Amino acid sequence: MPLMRFLITAGPTREAIDPVRYLTNHSSGKMGYCLAEAAVHEGHSVLLISGPTSLDIPHGVDFLPVECAQEMYDAVKNQAPYADAAILSAAVADYRPVSVPDRKIKKTGERMILELERTADILGSMRAEFGFSGILVGFAAETHDVENYARGKLERKRCDMIVANDVSRSDIGFNSSENEVLLVYPDRTEFLEKAPKAQIALQIIERASRLAQGKAP
Ligand code: CTP
Ligand code: CA
Repeated sequence: MPLMRFLITAGPTREAIDPVRYLTNHSSGKMGYCLAEAAVHEGHSVLLISGPTSLDIPHGVDFLPVECAQEMYDAVKNQAPYADAAILSAAVADYRPVSVPDRKIKKTGERMILELERTADILGSMRAEFGFSGILVGFAAETHDVENYARGKLERKRCDMIVANDVSRSDIGFNSSENEVLLVYPDRTEFLEKAPKAQIALQIIERASRLAQGKAP
């Protein structure tokens, strides 16, 4: 198999509310870091763009740490031209606070309203905005109708493959060391049975390299 340059995003993002608080999610980053390790193991070169996690940086990867969705967007936009394949596994915040005061927000009444605005969709920008023509793999975290929602994301974001997770299950996915996923392609769906994330990662990297071979001129 030809060696490739992978761009991989991982982890959660943090969206500041004020200087001491932020919005985030339960992503541990494990799946993305396993993907980076698996790609290096297969001899590929890897740029890992990661939100804040407690994981060690895998050996042999180029590492670009980011905090919020906008930083991840800018990093991916700058780096996408150098990648043959992009696997966007980060759990990017969909909304961020509209304004972030310089000073800590003091509590006042019994309730408070936090106004949020949409963040840019990084995966959804790859084809249309960044002109990325390599292999594009996205993730879908769903609690129900997993395959249908994943297929919708595959088409809307013009991906070659979506890795779909059922996040309603506590034994796999978010924060767990095992996963069981559906790989949704434009013309079919493949089931990867429950296995350690490192093993799932190797299978995803293998599928991505095979897709690249199919696409090669
Ligand atoms: N994603 C992204 N940028 C965002 C939001 C999501 O790049 N601002 C990417 C994720 O990294 C993942 C894919 O889009 O690869 C799907 O993420 P998911 O949260 O499942 O889908 P959304 O399109 O955000 O839809 P929703 O959360 O409403 O289900
Ligand atoms: Ca989302």
